[in-house]
Amino acid sequence: MHIVWEIFLIFQAYFICTSAQLISPKIHDGWWAYKDAVQGSFVPVPSFWGLVNSAWNLCAMGKRQSPVNVETSHMIFDPFLTPLRLNTGGRSKMGGTMYNTGRHVSLRPDKAHLVNISGGPLGYSHRLEEIRLHFGSEDGQGSEHLLNGQSFPAEVQLIHYNQELYANYSEAAKSPNGVAIVSIFIKISESPNVFLNRMLNRDTITRITYKHDAFLLMGLNIADLYPDTTRFITYDGSMTIPPCFETATWILMNKPVYVTQMQMHSLRLLSQNEPYKIFLSMSDNTRPAQPLLQRCIRTNINFSKQGRDCPNNRALRPQYRVNQWLLK
Ligand SMILES: *[C@@H]1O[C@H](CO)[C@@H](O)[C@H](O)[C@H]1NC(C)=O
Ligand SMILES: *[C@@H]1O[C@H](CO)[C@@H](O)[C@H](O)[C@H]1NC(C)=O
Ligand SMILES: *[C@@H]1O[C@H](CO)[C@@H](O)[C@H](O)[C@H]1NC(C)=O
Repeated sequence: MHIVWEIFLIFQAYFICTSAQLISPKIHDGWWAYKDAVQGSFVPVPSFWGLVNSAWNLCAMGKRQSPVNVETSHMIFDPFLTPLRLNTGGRSKMGGTMYNTGRHVSLRPDKAHLVNISGGPLGYSHRLEEIRLHFGSEDGQGSEHLLNGQSFPAEVQLIHYNQELYANYSEAAKSPNGVAIVSIFIKISESPNVFLNRMLNRDTITRITYKHDAFLLMGLNIADLYPDTTRFITYDGSMTIPPCFETATWILMNKPVYVTQMQMHSLRLLSQNEPYKIFLSMSDNTRPAQPLLQRCIRTNINFSKQGRDCPNNRALRPQYRVNQWLLK
């Protein structure tokens, strides 16, 4: 009896310990990472995002997750896709604050300069909320989206929210038709994109070396960031960070923009950490490609080849005729 009691006590102590451990992990909005930290404490990497927090279930169970690998041979030409319209309200120059968030280089336009996009696959006008950079530790990786299995050194994402239906980004991000993200691949060349050149020149990028560093930029023209093309690829997907809400319409521009090798190098020298912590490069801040499943990838590139049938491909869809008896 005595022994049994002791075992019970030990068991109880063990149970209290383990349940205390279960409660103690820092389950909060910021508790995730792209790669294992060198310090050794567990922080969930992309394959665990959907398992550690029930509010992030979509990251593991979602059926329209992003990013994806775009197989160009499977794209569907949709002749009803109009060109994307960029509206800067006649004022081409804007200001914005560039941040090191610890995970991305982020640029938020100031509230005085509203930029919105419409047209293309979008039924609503969407306001620019944030510009985000993803990049690799080597030139052979870094973009979140892949094109025929190939990644690019970096990808810039312009995140917009549906300003007609929702009051702000946080409300839109979790709601239907909430978000439109324009994605532009980045390649390396000696003649950089004018907009990225402003963000990534040495004097600017070195101001945000550490987490929470911020720097104000003026006189930016968002149109300068767009490559010279009206062609794009579009599909329905999700946020590429927790909680992976499936509310995003993705628009991938059909041409890349360029940064210099030196600018790529400066990006890799950004730290995920505060200055008093160990240097940990921000590079490889990418979520792996997710299964496409039943989704279609549409494009306004007329490669004059008929794709397979697709619910969104109105061109190939038979006309719907209402039953005559319904009208009587
Ligand atoms: C889009 O932006 C332009 C210029 O700022 C503005 O005139 C227009 O009203 C905006 N559209 C919507 C739906 O708010
Ligand atoms: C966003 O809008 C919702 C609904 O209007 C409001 O409850 C919420 O406080 C707003 N959030 C922010 C961050 O402004
Ligand atoms: C697509 O290209 C084909 C061949 O050039 C052309 O016949 C067709 O009219 C084009 N369709 C549209 C919608 O532009």
